[in-house]
Amino acid sequence: MQNAEIAGKANFEHIRYAQLWEDADVLTAALGDCQGGTLVSICAAGDNALAMLTLDPAKVVVVDLSDAQIACLKLRIGAFQNLTHPEFLALMGARPSTERGALLDKATSALDAQTRAFWQGLAPNVIAHGAGGVGKFERYFRIFRTRLLPLVHSRKTLDDTFVSRPKPARQTFLDQRFNTWRWRLLLNTFFSRFVMGRMGRDKAFFEHVDGSPAQHVARRIKHAAVDCDPAENPYLHWILKGTHGAALPMTWRAEHFETIKARLDRLDIRPGSLEAFVSTGEKADGFNLSDIFEYMSPDVFAQVYGSILKASAPEARLVYWNMMAPRRVPPAFADQVTTLTEVEDRLKAIDKAFFYSDFVVEQVKK
Ligand SMILES: C[S@@+](CC[C@H](N)C(=O)[O-])C[C@H]1O[C@@H](n2cnc3c(N)ncnc32)[C@H](O)[C@@H]1O
Repeated sequence: MQNAEIAGKANFEHIRYAQLWEDADVLTAALGDCQGGTLVSICAAGDNALAMLTLDPAKVVVVDLSDAQIACLKLRIGAFQNLTHPEFLALMGARPSTERGALLDKATSALDAQTRAFWQGLAPNVIAHGAGGVGKFERYFRIFRTRLLPLVHSRKTLDDTFVSRPKPARQTFLDQRFNTWRWRLLLNTFFSRFVMGRMGRDKAFFEHVDGSPAQHVARRIKHAAVDCDPAENPYLHWILKGTHGAALPMTWRAEHFETIKARLDRLDIRPGSLEAFVSTGEKADGFNLSDIFEYMSPDVFAQVYGSILKASAPEARLVYWNMMAPRRVPPAFADQVTTLTEVEDRLKAIDKAFFYSDFVVEQVKK
């Protein structure tokens, strides 16, 4: 198995992301028509690999370097199979619940012994925060919400953030109610490289990142709070309030529950690196690459990108995000792909996972 560059640098023993912080509505729209095809997805917490089942592919190959992240997908599989949709939302933490211990037992009852034991060890956390709240990244948001946010905004201001209003009124709300000097001070402190590295992301992940995380977050908050309607944003709701409100991420919405449940057998879970998949000789029609390129040096990125192209069927789409480090088709491969700029622009404008700075959709030429 080929080694991925980041594997030697970061610690993958614990759940880093207990839910997906990338918008599956945007991902699935970007992948286009995939009916009957083979898709490849980075697992992370598993939500987006599950969302890709709604595209009716023959299979979704799911890869991840981290066994803890693969365990997040396995939990979801058990939950789709054994819980009702309202129970699923309660277990994951989208809704408040006092039943999570029992729901966790039910969801994990048919899973392999190792995965069951892994989740049993996390039961107190799942009961307290929901299974979608137990990652390092979510813990970071929780500290922000419970310890720092109350120093800056009243409960009323936070509740009012999720009242649907026309765009000009959203700008006024942001300027007059939300973007106070206390809020700006909090952003600059909490999103300093030092604090983010200590609490949210490994420092290794910042090696290739330009610009201040706080400046970046301030720009993206305008996107989430003014350009888009916060009332429709489940990610912002979780960050500020610790649960989802009326809006849910695609995979968690009732309308997709039965479709996903009926297609779980199309998942092909392969613990290990994406690089390992692309060296098998199989061809895929679409890739959800999360934001993994951002964690690679430009040289390694170019090398991995080339190997993905070799594993791509004609017209396959490569879909990925950038948070802070710019990554797009390396010059050496520019003549082999078409950047779907119109698709990107249309979807970037509605991307609810607001902290990314770029969303890339590249299509392999015929
Ligand atoms: C890149 S992270 C980003 C997650 C996402 N931004 C989020 O907020 O949910 C997603 C996953 O990619 C995995 N990963 C990173 N590089 C990888 C690689 N080369 N092959 C397979 N998985 C990889 C990590 O283990 C992690 O679980």
